[in-house]
Amino acid sequence: MKDAVPEMLTQARRVPMPVGLLTGRRTWLRRLVSWGTAAINRAIDLLPVGRWLHMRILNALVLTRVEMPLVPRSRGLHGIRVAFLTDLHAGSFMNERDLRRVFARVAAERPHLVLFGGDLINTRERELLLLREGLRRLSPPLGMFAVPGNHDLFWGKDLGLWCAFLEEHGVKVLCNRGVRLTWNGTSFWLCGVDDLTEGDPDLRLALAGRGEDEPTILLSHHPDYFFEAAANGVDLTLSGHTHGGQIRLRGKAPLHHSKFDYDQGWFVEGDSRLYVSRGIGVTFLPIRIDAPPEVPIFTMVAQDRAAPRRESIVGEQAPCKQLLTTPSDAR
Ligand SMILES: [Fe+2]
Repeated sequence: MKDAVPEMLTQARRVPMPVGLLTGRRTWLRRLVSWGTAAINRAIDLLPVGRWLHMRILNALVLTRVEMPLVPRSRGLHGIRVAFLTDLHAGSFMNERDLRRVFARVAAERPHLVLFGGDLINTRERELLLLREGLRRLSPPLGMFAVPGNHDLFWGKDLGLWCAFLEEHGVKVLCNRGVRLTWNGTSFWLCGVDDLTEGDPDLRLALAGRGEDEPTILLSHHPDYFFEAAANGVDLTLSGHTHGGQIRLRGKAPLHHSKFDYDQGWFVEGDSRLYVSRGIGVTFLPIRIDAPPEVPIFTMVAQDRAAPRRESIVGEQAPCKQLLTTPSDAR
């Protein structure tokens, strides 16, 4: 684990916007690149080799079981099991059968709460329909919640259809809003923000209604939002977007999605923690190197303040060496 931001940075700070091709500004160059990569995605998806490559990735999916130590004021949440699914990128490469298989594995973990971190679709709004069967397999007692990712916003006309589909299938959308949930008599605030690059995130709205000192979990597709969340008393931020770099060579990813290098795993600042999931799907090419797909399953554990730790990694097949690489939480 490492300190997420320098100590000199203080309260009331705002997250800086990403720049360059990773910004949300819809310039002609960015549109051109997006449409070009989408066309390549779809073309490769039609080839047997594309399917073969994707099956290799899906077979490497790991359920990352993580203990989340709770600070004293959150002790009442002991025992909650949370499944966090992000960056599914349904559509190119990820078909309905693949998604059913992923959701079945998550359902077998019997989570109390299921959270979606955005980028549910890849490049077409209708790809949402591929999630129907999978979602029917899940009925966690504390519910299912989601925030949008940049793909959901960029490739949809607006979020209207996306929200309607999810709500119809039992998933509440937390786009700049929060809800109070209760576990064994202890309440906590679960909230989410809009995507940093394509949307209009507002933490003030997401936290509106939170009780004083109420334990808080925030969903934000983009991990850089932790910069702002940590300064506002959010206990746990869950993010995706980076795919863990998707392609890592000698431990480094050529493409940097995070200004703060929040690429994968745990980051901490004071009592506030961020977990960045490598996500499930892929974009552009059906290739992952040293960044296997994952679904983190968090178990909240009451204990004195301690570092969160990775408990175990469970692959569908015997884990290969690549799956056992330990990301940033071991640093
Ligand atoms: Fe994303």
